[in-house]
Amino acid sequence: MRVQGSVRPPGDKSISHRALILAALAHGRSELRGLLPGADVKSTARCLRQLGAEIGQIRGGGAVTVQGSRLSPPTSRLYCGNSGTTARLLLGLLAGQRFAARLTGDASLRRRPMRRVSEPLRAMGARIQEERGDGLPLTIRGGRLRGLVYQSPVASAQVKSALLLAALTGRVPVTIREPYRSRDHMERLFVHLGLGIHDEDGAVSYQPSAVSRQQTIPAFRLEMPGDISSAAFLVAAAALAEGGELLVENVGLNPTRTGFLMVMERMGAHVERVNLHDAGGEPVGDLLARPAPGLRGGEVAAAEVPSLVDEVPVLAVLASRAQGETVFREVGELRVKESNRLELLAGNLRAVGVEAEARGNDLHVCGTERPPRGRVDTARDHRVAMAFAVLGTLPGAEVRLSEWASVAISYPRFFHDLKAIGSRARHRD
Ligand code: S3P
Repeated sequence: MRVQGSVRPPGDKSISHRALILAALAHGRSELRGLLPGADVKSTARCLRQLGAEIGQIRGGGAVTVQGSRLSPPTSRLYCGNSGTTARLLLGLLAGQRFAARLTGDASLRRRPMRRVSEPLRAMGARIQEERGDGLPLTIRGGRLRGLVYQSPVASAQVKSALLLAALTGRVPVTIREPYRSRDHMERLFVHLGLGIHDEDGAVSYQPSAVSRQQTIPAFRLEMPGDISSAAFLVAAAALAEGGELLVENVGLNPTRTGFLMVMERMGAHVERVNLHDAGGEPVGDLLARPAPGLRGGEVAAAEVPSLVDEVPVLAVLASRAQGETVFREVGELRVKESNRLELLAGNLRAVGVEAEARGNDLHVCGTERPPRGRVDTARDHRVAMAFAVLGTLPGAEVRLSEWASVAISYPRFFHDLKAIGSRARHRD
């Protein structure tokens, strides 16, 4: 296909969850623009409404008002759908509330580990009761918390954000270290709202205000940047295209999220960043992407993984078109995403004729020029579906996806946008 024109990816998923939660805690009426209208963010909004926040309908693009309030006990379980961010961040939020709430989710979410959040929250004083081992459903009873200095075994923004929310609502200090720096949207929002957060020797610390014991969060206005993790699929489609040029507008370019752009650069696909500016404490810009014939394979180091953790599926698809082998080091976290992404990616790449394998926690992908052909089992994992849909745009490709609906989790208009940016290349005779 040839790519053309410009496209705006939907609002950033990570920032949308966080903005909604902080607005629900704020005093007064906040106004959030460009929230992602995806199923995951709607799960967070639904749960926050059950806790007493008044949140308008989240539709594509428009402003949503949030009337914050003192949270109240939910009258029924909090259903987090497919969203790990919803479940883990709400656990943090609820740790500082003096009531009980039961959290659950869909079959995929119920399989995902929660102890990475519940253990440090217990150390802060929350009572958390498991029903089926390490996962949902869980009942949390928050209350009086104590401060914590925590070394997280995983680099996870969800863990870090949950602990920051617990410290904020429980009015206690917290310090978090992680093996590698994960996305820092929550920290940036804290700074934006004047909450006491700082960075020391690679550790993040929150200190409640010494002046008033009541840490107040002012109502705020925020415009979400476009989600770079959604933009990545469009940028990759442009890199694989036979011609043209694509402008992906208004993309969040937070350096804790841009790892895939560096890897693409090393592979031989230069993506230009233009129109750079700041919005609500986050760097934002447009991405100008062009076809990149002659991609080269290479190594993605463990230290880079947190900055591209959601882009491994689409990078693996690009690697399958690159010369030589690409190795993604230490991507074991992918086993506990919306699916076992590590095995699913390797298996699906093989299903369309690519040599790929998970060896220990590494993912190996060998590039080929053979058109991809075969059936892809998405396991209802939105990012796997979108990555293989991008692969399906190659000339001669015959990629059949087991389902399409999962894209609604993070990018409801994905297929519409993918179609809009492309036109079939005319065959030369
Ligand atoms: C997210 C953090 C990442 C990412 C997820 C969203 C967030 O997970 O994979 O899609 O908004 O905090 P981990 O922080 O658990 O790696």
